[in-house]
Amino acid sequence: MERLAASECPALTTRRKRRAERTGANHDPIVWVEAQGTNVVDADGNRYVDLTSGFGVAFIGHRHPAVVEAVKEQADALLHALGDLYPSSVKIELLEKLCALSPWPEARAMLSLSGAEAVTAALKTAVMATGRPGVVAFEGSYHGLLYGPLAVSGFAERFRAPFDRQLGSHVHFAQWPNTDDAVDRALRSLPDDWSEVGALIVEPIQGRAGVRVPPRGFLKELGKTCKQHGVVLIVDEIFTGLGRCGAWWRSVRDEVTPDVICVGKALGGGLPVSACIAREEVMRAWGDPDREAIHTGTFYGDPLGAAAALATLGVIEKEGLVALSETRGAAFVETLQRASLRGVSEIRHAGTMLGLQLERELRALSVTRALLDRGYLVLPAGKRADVIQLVPPVTLSQARFDGFVDALDEVLETAP
Ligand SMILES: Cc1ncc(COP(=O)(O)O)c(C=O)c1O
Repeated sequence: MERLAASECPALTTRRKRRAERTGANHDPIVWVEAQGTNVVDADGNRYVDLTSGFGVAFIGHRHPAVVEAVKEQADALLHALGDLYPSSVKIELLEKLCALSPWPEARAMLSLSGAEAVTAALKTAVMATGRPGVVAFEGSYHGLLYGPLAVSGFAERFRAPFDRQLGSHVHFAQWPNTDDAVDRALRSLPDDWSEVGALIVEPIQGRAGVRVPPRGFLKELGKTCKQHGVVLIVDEIFTGLGRCGAWWRSVRDEVTPDVICVGKALGGGLPVSACIAREEVMRAWGDPDREAIHTGTFYGDPLGAAAALATLGVIEKEGLVALSETRGAAFVETLQRASLRGVSEIRHAGTMLGLQLERELRALSVTRALLDRGYLVLPAGKRADVIQLVPPVTLSQARFDGFVDALDEVLETAP
């Protein structure tokens, strides 16, 4: 911990200290050295069950053998190519695969490394397609922390405050409906004047904000509104997509067809790969082959990431993990409901994305820590750290989940 404090950005060390003060518990991190399937091993040899999937990345499990093999094979052939100029063959394969998985008959995709970069590409795509700079986003939304995505992230004012003057004034934040009776209010909070608005960006379920599932029909209404005003609908499926919520695309399941989809996290099976996929008519706006590409990156579409992503998508398809996410998630929720956990006021879920609403703010911090001491990795979520977010690898067995619920029950009885 001393080496970490002496070398990492001080913000992170300070955050741990502050958490320790607030909760009266030790918040030193564990240091990961190995992971396989649903297990993580730390530097002291302790083994944990991971119900975070490493921020949602290990949907198919950590170090899936098919991904490891694909990466090794690719490493033996080609580590780096000339991106958008002279691409690798495996990059082309991945682009084809992503377009085929998209909900449109004709699609085009741009690859990048992180979720925030995929969102950046999507926001720029909307400007190219409409010529209008305005964006509608939602209170509580999290789209990443690069400047473009930060400007549309309503998650926490403190993330934005130091940079506020560099974020522009093009974003309108609308309300997020947590309950059926909040839908009208949320729709009324959309702009009156759409003439300068080119994009609306939305998470089908707000993940970091605490697994906030909008009432059924809300996304569909947004889709209609976007169509009516000629606005590009960007759906951020970085957390919710690729089966996590029991469908390839949660938005499509909610009966809305977006214009642009952002995907990341689980896509690379552990390697950093993301993509902005769009309807062909929308992506066409970038097309002017006489000029240089005006949006690219040295490592975008790198061969290792592309090979890992292809292997990951193959595993999701072959092992039927989209359907498994739905059934396993439902079984996990049943287990939680049967346990009648003290201090949990609501259980929200879609597929294997679960949020346990706690009655007291900040409590998720101490509960998370107490679970770590018992060998379970979970993350706090929500603006007020009052939600426990469970996004385990879809392969987590019921027996392991039962063990987790027993530990959680104990922790909720005893943790402050
Ligand atoms: C919905 C959503 N969008 C975007 C991001 C940003 O992704 P990244 O951290 O890879 O930039 C996240 C990360 O948590 C996310 O949950």
